[in-house]
Amino acid sequence: MKPFAALVSALIFVSSSGAALAGNAEDLITANKCNKCHTASTTKKGPSWASLAEKYKGKPEVAARLVTMLKTGGPDDHKKVEAPDADLKAIIDLVLSSK
Ligand code: HEC
Repeated sequence: MKPFAALVSALIFVSSSGAALAGNAEDLITANKCNKCHTASTTKKGPSWASLAEKYKGKPEVAARLVTMLKTGGPDDHKKVEAPDADLKAIIDLVLSSK
């Protein structure tokens, strides 16, 4: 009985924290108006999330560079996001997991 209960609570923890993170990242993307230049699947001023996910597939090391880009604007003076690193990471995770 006990291992089962532990498994259930672990599952609840994983699914609820995952949902909270994704929700937060979506809110930040909306609040920072990323959608002015990016959409999930079509290229506007900036590349679509899906095309970025495709481009960086299998390159987990890119995430750290993109987090820094959101923090500092990067070499091309991209739009900056003022948020804790964990939130920036959540945004990038969401972008890089888009289809
Ligand atoms: C004013 C338009 C504009 C806004 C607003 C904007 N972007 Fe971008 N973004 C671009 C353009 C143009 C590029 C492609 C050129 C480049 O890499 O700088 C880009 C590139 C990117 C890339 C890929 C960078 C790379 O090196 O491949 C990511 C990730 C990204 N944007 C995320 C975001 C997020 C998250 C937001 C909201 C906080 C956002 N962008 C808001 C225009 C914008």
